[in-house]
Amino acid sequence: MITSSPALEMNEVRKVYSVAETEVVALADASLTVAQDEIVALVGPSGSGKTTLCSIAGGILSPSEGTVTVGGEDITGYDRRRLTRFRRERVGFVFQSVNLVPFLNARENLLIVDEFGRRERREAKLRADRLLEELGLSDRAANLPGQLSGGQRQRVAIGRALMNQPSLVMFDEPTSSLDTELGSQVMELIRTEMKSRGTSAIVVTHDDRITHFCDRTVGIVDGVLAA
Ligand SMILES: Nc1ncnc2c1ncn2[C@@H]1O[C@H](COP(=O)(O)OP(=O)(O)OP(=O)(O)O)[C@@H](O)[C@H]1O
Ligand SMILES: [Mg+2]
Repeated sequence: MITSSPALEMNEVRKVYSVAETEVVALADASLTVAQDEIVALVGPSGSGKTTLCSIAGGILSPSEGTVTVGGEDITGYDRRRLTRFRRERVGFVFQSVNLVPFLNARENLLIVDEFGRRERREAKLRADRLLEELGLSDRAANLPGQLSGGQRQRVAIGRALMNQPSLVMFDEPTSSLDTELGSQVMELIRTEMKSRGTSAIVVTHDDRITHFCDRTVGIVDGVLAA
């Protein structure tokens, strides 16, 4: 990682989706810089482009126009294969729907991130166990997602996003399925985990109550960003 570069630099990014005869401008000239160690809240109404922005920042989607640089690495022109590798090595995602693999237990859900050989595998197991402990889940490591509470599942998803030691993590409405109390606890945990690692994050939320866990709030309406 190039230490002097911002965690994310999006420059005049435009994203247009085409469905049948219609074009939807999901992002219009979006420019956003996230500093190292910074947690940015992204707030806006449904359909305003939040998930699209996260997907582009994390190399799931490519922009129609503009440039995307993550930790000094310009990913704009990457093909599918390089994007896959970039995602695996550099970024983490926590989705609203959590997306745990239902037939793998908590520990195995962390370990699927790791796709290396045997020696690294041992190290991955150590890292998974350390993360589970930090997240207060050591005694639930063998539970399947269906045997966990909503907040515990969300914590497993956070652990999984941190497995590859990313420099930038996108949280897309990480607390929307949790009540206020649990939502605050999960945000507190996210903040602690990010700050102790010097990892940057974008946190998408509809909820003004959790933006105060972030360093800065950026608004988005109809694909247009406003500080
Ligand atoms: N794959 C797609 N194909 C076509 N249009 C899409 C696609 N994904 C999103 N859109 C459209 O792009 C716009 C932005 O969608 P996006 O999912 O980024 O919004 P969002 O802010 O995350 O909304 P929500 O808060 O409901 O999750 C919406 O108008 C949506 O209908
Ligand atoms: Mg969304």
